[in-house]
Amino acid sequence: MSTTTPSYEARSRSLKQSDPEVFALIQRETERQEYGLEMIPSENFVSEAVLEAMGSTLTNKYAEGQPGKRYYGGCHVVDEVENLASARVCELFGADFANVQPHSGVQANQAVFEAFLKPGDTFMGLRLDQGGHLSHGSPVNFSGMHYKVVGYGVKEADGLIDYDQVRSLAREHKPKLIIAGGSAYSRQIDWKPFREAADEVGAIFMADIAHYAGLVAGGSYVSPVQFADIVTTTTHKTLRGPRSGMVMGREAHRKAINKAVFPGLQGGPHMHTIAAKAVMAREALTPDFKTYAAQVVANARALAEGLTKRGLKIVSGGTDSHLMLVDLRPVGVSGKIGEEVLDKVGITVNKNTVPFDPQPPSVCSGIRLGTPALTTRGMGVAEMAHVAEFIYEALANAQSEAKLKTVADNVRELSKKFPLYRHRLTR
Ligand SMILES: Cc1ncc(COP(=O)(O)O)c(C=O)c1O
Repeated sequence: MSTTTPSYEARSRSLKQSDPEVFALIQRETERQEYGLEMIPSENFVSEAVLEAMGSTLTNKYAEGQPGKRYYGGCHVVDEVENLASARVCELFGADFANVQPHSGVQANQAVFEAFLKPGDTFMGLRLDQGGHLSHGSPVNFSGMHYKVVGYGVKEADGLIDYDQVRSLAREHKPKLIIAGGSAYSRQIDWKPFREAADEVGAIFMADIAHYAGLVAGGSYVSPVQFADIVTTTTHKTLRGPRSGMVMGREAHRKAINKAVFPGLQGGPHMHTIAAKAVMAREALTPDFKTYAAQVVANARALAEGLTKRGLKIVSGGTDSHLMLVDLRPVGVSGKIGEEVLDKVGITVNKNTVPFDPQPPSVCSGIRLGTPALTTRGMGVAEMAHVAEFIYEALANAQSEAKLKTVADNVRELSKKFPLYRHRLTR
């Protein structure tokens, strides 16, 4: 008896019909995002347009290579998609070129190492325990495993990057690469001293703006593009695009970066994500996005002020960006407990070491907070005053289930006033 495969159309049912289990999990996560306060600074809420591009038929297409020089047929449409994404990103940041193929921020960074360093070569980055990122030299990451790391830090007195140390370490160790940028540094980075240090020793200067990219695009954080040889970023944080990465830079480095990304590190680019990056860049080129970026910073400042007023300590005394590191020692709570308590009331944060933290990273003394996601929902300075109150009340009453319940109710009430993906919820 011969059997025939049912047509694609006949097999095509909604996710709800075809896989109720996954559908239900997505519903639960959407609900969590909708009715809680998302304050992890590296998270944001993408638009329906970005979601649509990510869920498109472009996921089906293999396109190894560069536009116009692919290793697969049928790439004429996705070539246009990638060219559009790169052109918009270059316009947004004023870069000579943009490689939009990296699957993530770490892979974007890895491409720079591949392009300019050999295993065993020396590079400099901000120490992880002082605000840097895993891929800037952590011993458990490729960057720390395969290269010689010289870490610089912040000053204990004011929590600001020690630019004198950057200069002196560069002179002493003659690195091939100097990285500026980090994951828990809230202040404006002065890009010029990095450029000068790199020039003095003949190093490549790379700025990793994964965290600040949206603020840079919106004109609320000084751009490193005119200073750095290479700029890497994620696209899903303040930039509010799909989960991904990219590398931008000066024309002279285009070839080396392109070769490092493919065939050096990756196979086929994720064309659906690249389309979503094009959508992201178009959104970020609008005047509305400038307003958004400025509001993110204004909200972070208001939140820092509200927390300081209640006796919490903000590392470096404040913020110039979307994020802040809060030292919880004044309320006698560790970072680990702080994260757990805030989770209970529907405020999502992550524990984080503070510079010169006496606690191990698994316990640590601080939490990292950010305003990009709340700002996307439409919250402003007035709401930040409430949020500061909720955070303080939860931390100061960590042992009282009744008090935590009140805070949780208040969190839910506030989030209900700022609808997000409610139309996606079926219940
Ligand atoms: C400064 C910095 N670089 C790179 C990354 C890595 O990005 P991804 O998680 O997409 O690999 C992050 C992520 O938090 C980051 O903060």
